[in-house]
Amino acid sequence: MNYEFSNKMTHVKASAIREIFKALTNPEIISFAGGNPASTAFPVDAIKKASADLLEENPIALLQYGLTEGDPDFLKAANAFFNRHEQVTFESDMIITTTGSQQIMDLASKCLCNEGDVVVVEEPSFLGSLNSFKENGCVLRGVPFKDGQLDLEKLEEALQIEPKPKFMYLIPNFQNPTGFTMSLETRQAVLALAKKYQVMILEDDPYGALRFSGEDVPSLKSLDRDGLVLYAVSMSKIMAPGMRVACAIGPKEVVQKMVVAKQGADVHTNLWSQKVIARLLETYDMDAHLTRIKKIYKEKCELMLAEMDKEFADGITYTRPEGGMFIWVDLPKEADMNAFVKEALEKKVAVVPGNAFLTDDTKECHSFRMNFSTPAPEDIIKGVKILGEMTHQL
Ligand SMILES: Cc1ncc(COP(=O)(O)O)c(C=O)c1O
Repeated sequence: MNYEFSNKMTHVKASAIREIFKALTNPEIISFAGGNPASTAFPVDAIKKASADLLEENPIALLQYGLTEGDPDFLKAANAFFNRHEQVTFESDMIITTTGSQQIMDLASKCLCNEGDVVVVEEPSFLGSLNSFKENGCVLRGVPFKDGQLDLEKLEEALQIEPKPKFMYLIPNFQNPTGFTMSLETRQAVLALAKKYQVMILEDDPYGALRFSGEDVPSLKSLDRDGLVLYAVSMSKIMAPGMRVACAIGPKEVVQKMVVAKQGADVHTNLWSQKVIARLLETYDMDAHLTRIKKIYKEKCELMLAEMDKEFADGITYTRPEGGMFIWVDLPKEADMNAFVKEALEKKVAVVPGNAFLTDDTKECHSFRMNFSTPAPEDIIKGVKILGEMTHQL
């Protein structure tokens, strides 16, 4: 049989980092390549208890089909929780529960874009979202960072070029992969540009609740008075990614269309997970939980940065994130980043080559991403030492 695939899928290559992830099954490898929450960050006992209680009280409510928009108990609890933390819902908004926030990228681009339509993205940006947009036929237009902020001049240029973009995809808090956080001034300027050029924003905020130093910056959604922002927030990094629960909050017309698209995708998000999370949001001390997990990430991030400060050669620069899970490392321009990453893997340390996060992975890139949330402290020390030795050979 000669299998023929859609045009949309021909633009999506199997991930360039697949080889790295394959290597991660080797237990000898120290991985700074993943992006998983720390295994100590899950509220395991509370999830067990909520699940057992709910199954005892009314099992059918967990096991039956549910509503595409989301379970009403979950929506109520989630809306209250996110409003308390982010003030993100307005009268004109609607909320939908999705199967992880990854599904928001799929549904939003499916609903807003025809094949060939342009999506403006930060460059570098989260690979999973870029692939989702490409799978829906979108053409990516990258905007670089300048001194840790989105380059606003380049953003305006990208918004002026024809065809006009359908939306811009932004990760303002502790961006994946760079760890950058967008300042209030940049957020205001981005919103002004979105309004001027009438281009929607898909604001992806899975890490906002994981700030472990510095001051909170209001979300784009909370600053938006013009119905420009569709806000994506996930339970993955504050509860557990295996539960696959996230929410999109935004203009009713857009979210309603996503509800229709979700019916065709998976009918509804896992009801069991939604009910368990709703119970936790209502009865579990979420503030204490968040304080606990932020402490875990702060300690790991500080340890990794302290080891990098000690071990890495002069001339290697890296971000110092105030939250989230990632550090972005820039090698000198003359260094061969791909060779560096390959050699690191041979020495049993995995990092992700930066070009994996670009709109076109054949572009020149001298950076790589390191994750600090997953590895154990002793592995952070050991792995950074190996990378540090390599930086002295560049
Ligand atoms: C920036 C960003 N957006 C979205 C996701 C998807 O998360 P989930 O589908 O688990 O909510 C991730 C996962 O790592 C991410 O880093």
